[in-house]
Amino acid sequence: MTMRHPWAPTPAEDRLERITTMSVLTINPLTDTVGAEVTGVDQESLATDTSLSTTLLAALEDNGVLVFRGLGLQPGPQVEFCRGLGEIDTSTDGQHPVSGIYPISLDAKKNASAAYLRATFDWHIDGCTPVNEDCPQRATVLSAVQVAETGGETEFASAYAAYDALDEDEKQRFGQLRVVHSLEASQRRVTPDPTPEQLARWRARRTHEHPLVWSHRSGRRSLVLGASADYVVGMDVDEGRALLTRLLDRATRPSNVYSHVWSVGDTVMWDNRGVLHRAAPYDPSSPREMLRTTVLGDEPIQ
Ligand code: OGA
Ligand code: MN
Repeated sequence: MTMRHPWAPTPAEDRLERITTMSVLTINPLTDTVGAEVTGVDQESLATDTSLSTTLLAALEDNGVLVFRGLGLQPGPQVEFCRGLGEIDTSTDGQHPVSGIYPISLDAKKNASAAYLRATFDWHIDGCTPVNEDCPQRATVLSAVQVAETGGETEFASAYAAYDALDEDEKQRFGQLRVVHSLEASQRRVTPDPTPEQLARWRARRTHEHPLVWSHRSGRRSLVLGASADYVVGMDVDEGRALLTRLLDRATRPSNVYSHVWSVGDTVMWDNRGVLHRAAPYDPSSPREMLRTTVLGDEPIQ
């Protein structure tokens, strides 16, 4: 049996204390189709409150992107928060003292794969060309440690809204199509004239064939587009590429985009399964540094 100290608050007093010190959680949409700003949470509640995790996962499903301005989330609590959402990716550990934290920077001293990260300047969905059969990541959390002087916004567009905006005939036709995704396709966009060694490295990564329309377990559908999408199976290569480009342009029209202008201490998380994202260009020598934690996915593109 546990004993309460006589001077400890009774459960009711304790609850009242928490209610009076905690601000109210609000979730305010930022555009018609993607993004919402969350206020009224702090890093302590994010790291420890499991009912808050459930609420935020539901809000992520509804809004695609959640923005926490000026949260000041530290690496340890960020990892704890993400562990509360699901299994996290630790496969890239070693570049930051905290397990589960991966630094995003174009500075090779901060990120050994910095050269590959230039591909983040094109619209993409993470994890469409894994080394194995891993499913795309479920959710990604980025916190800004240092920001670029100019550029370096992170932009988001809903891949669910992109599907929903198709007409009935397009939904029917595109629902049949399959697309080959490759690392080479995404790298070529930023490095159009690779050396034979670069090309060999890209080609060493196997390609993946995915449906153009992802039918999610939730019952929703989204378009699987972006830099890794190379060509449409069974279609003339140029015609297929033109179709993928047109669909991406429609999906990422400025009126469909939420662009996050970073301040140090901001945290943004996105639903990687149903959201396209990209970094707006920034000077490779800028100190911009984001700390990322990734929640693994368990839903294949199907
Ligand atoms: C990523 C990514 C964009 C950015 O971390 O997967 O694409 O703005 N980042 O750094
Ligand atoms: Mn990315």
